Amino acid sequence: MTQASTPQRDILVTSALPYANGPIHLGHLLEYIQTDIWVRYQNLRGNNCYYVCADDAHGTAIMLRAEREGITAEQLIDRIRQEHQADFAGFHIRFDNYYSTHSEENRHFSEYIYRKLKENGHIATRNITQFYDPEKEMFLADRFIKGTCPKCKTDDQYGDNCEACGATYTPAELINPRSAVSGATPVEKTSEHYFFRLPDFQDFLTEWTRSGTLQPQVANKLAEWLDAGLQEWDISRDAPYFGFEIPDAPGKYFYVWLDAPIGYLASFKNLCNRENIDFEHFWRADSTAEVYHFIGKDIINFHALFWPSMLHDAGLRTPTAVWAHGFVTVNGKKMSKSRGTFIMARTYLDHLNPEYLRYYFASKLTGSVDDMDLNLEDFAARVNSDLVGKVVNIASRCAGFIAKRFDGQLGTVTETDKLREFIDAGAEIEGHYESREFGRAMRRIMELADIANQYVNDEQPWVIAKQEGQEDALHAICTNALNMFRLLMTYLSPVLPETAKASEAFLKTTLDWNGRADLLESHGIDTFKPLMNRVDMAQIEKMLEASKEELPAATGQPAKAAIEPIAEEIEFNDFAKVDLRVVKIVDAERVEGADKLLRLTLDLGEGQRQVFAGIKSAYEPDQLKGRMTVMVANLKPRKMKFGVSEGMVLAAGPGGKDIFILSPDAGATPGMRVM
Ligand code: MSP
Ligand code: ZN
Repeated sequence: MTQASTPQRDILVTSALPYANGPIHLGHLLEYIQTDIWVRYQNLRGNNCYYVCADDAHGTAIMLRAEREGITAEQLIDRIRQEHQADFAGFHIRFDNYYSTHSEENRHFSEYIYRKLKENGHIATRNITQFYDPEKEMFLADRFIKGTCPKCKTDDQYGDNCEACGATYTPAELINPRSAVSGATPVEKTSEHYFFRLPDFQDFLTEWTRSGTLQPQVANKLAEWLDAGLQEWDISRDAPYFGFEIPDAPGKYFYVWLDAPIGYLASFKNLCNRENIDFEHFWRADSTAEVYHFIGKDIINFHALFWPSMLHDAGLRTPTAVWAHGFVTVNGKKMSKSRGTFIMARTYLDHLNPEYLRYYFASKLTGSVDDMDLNLEDFAARVNSDLVGKVVNIASRCAGFIAKRFDGQLGTVTETDKLREFIDAGAEIEGHYESREFGRAMRRIMELADIANQYVNDEQPWVIAKQEGQEDALHAICTNALNMFRLLMTYLSPVLPETAKASEAFLKTTLDWNGRADLLESHGIDTFKPLMNRVDMAQIEKMLEASKEELPAATGQPAKAAIEPIAEEIEFNDFAKVDLRVVKIVDAERVEGADKLLRLTLDLGEGQRQVFAGIKSAYEPDQLKGRMTVMVANLKPRKMKFGVSEGMVLAAGPGGKDIFILSPDAGATPGMRVM
């Protein structure tokens, strides 16, 4: 049985470039897992498919964070890139290249494309007036301005919308505006900005967005925007800014979103140089190669309006398609730090097998932009029932007989019709992978797994094994079932690369998609080792606990002050139960592997306690030693990732550098009750 061979396709695939100022979380991972599955599938089919990505390293937020940490922006982005790469590797995301937008290749392409746009008359300049921080001497984007909401008068709201009443406004309408960077009162200031004249591309975009490059829902949305008319796009930012200076425009920098998608070209160019790949073949205007961008639905305008226009004008090819996915919610709600559902990639990996998440996402992914709920009970149930209960189970029920009774040798397949169905189902599954209907692919694979389990149930090898003269029958049953298992694992291999690898070792074969019709007969296999364990809800609980403990750093936006609603009223007696004590900090030290925590040793007068406090951003350990603070002394000890925390210290302040926990003056006695 041989497969018809199709010509090899040359394909370049990207995922959006994550911001270099925050950790990767499970929301991001939907995109990288979706893309990785698609790319692995393409390569398994024998296509020539490259997957590139990079950190999106530029912009004000990164500049300010580096400043706060007392390091250079370059140091910050290097560190974050290493963290991102380790997280992605942990989830088996296999990039051909992972680069940075802060690279020479990217500077080159950004200047190249900008010069083309300028030559072709699509760059305009004009003065605009904006808020300016006179202390920091920098212009302030809306989200770096805070003040009182003009509608409901709630204080401490951002410059563009109110979190309390939902009103939207301009920063100029805020009452008592101030700079979120320095606290200074902003002044209005005028400067020259550079604009990309997007309206020049109205006709081009009207055609491009309708030419099958976008999902229907997205194309419809864009048609509305196009009907409403396009606006010029402000592509410059004034110094100080972390980015690339605009050619012939001293003190003006490319806005981060100008050079971010160009980072796709830069990362690929870097790969091409290293591996001798023909860059031009992929990017010239008449290229026959395919280029796909996987993105989230929040960044469609950048990828489906600005980016194709820029490429088109610079004489480069436009993407074959841009594919948007929806947003991840956890247990039906937006990911939340207080619920512990804002789960970092690293925290997940500390507790659970990455392939569980790959499978769960795959089982729920479609080709549409619909949001995706990660329901943690459903997650555990589905992994346990599908992967452990159905797929792995087939192998574990048959492998022992082959080892013990047949010297590790498979026999001859007798269920040719059933196996024919398994082989033929591949064509359907291929279609589902290709169109990103991974959920359909998983359902079809699980239908086959049900057939395989039903077969084993009906044949009862464990009964046959005890009967005289049934050796051949037993051998055939196990050979049939293990061939079914092999086909299931072949179809699952884009989703479960590690289990696929372990299955290859067990079956002593390669899971070759195109060669799947060649059955394993009279073939030696290895002894079976459990391929995957069940998910335990306790592991999930622990992960949620850990997510509550490590309040994450900013993820793309400056950290918002958490204005939580006032909790439920309590009686005075409830409050009196809290034993607040003045304590002396006798020791403070950093905690290996924790971003936020310091380990404090507190003296209560009557013994010492170890407490983990999330105050690393505000204090050097040495500043704390010998000072007094207030602690909750009767809090039940809590096991955290780094040890047991025996209480809690009280602090106030907006966070970051401003967390205040103690009196510098040792006028109080350790152990004294506060009330
Ligand atoms: N830096 C830009 C992308 C530049 S691409 C030239 C950016 N970065 S991001 O870190 O905020 O997001 C990276 C990707 O993750 C985006 O495609 C975004 O849509 C996706 N997601 C971020 N949070 C997400 C969820 N909660 N759910 C699903 N996808 C999410 O945008
Ligand atoms: Zn308001």
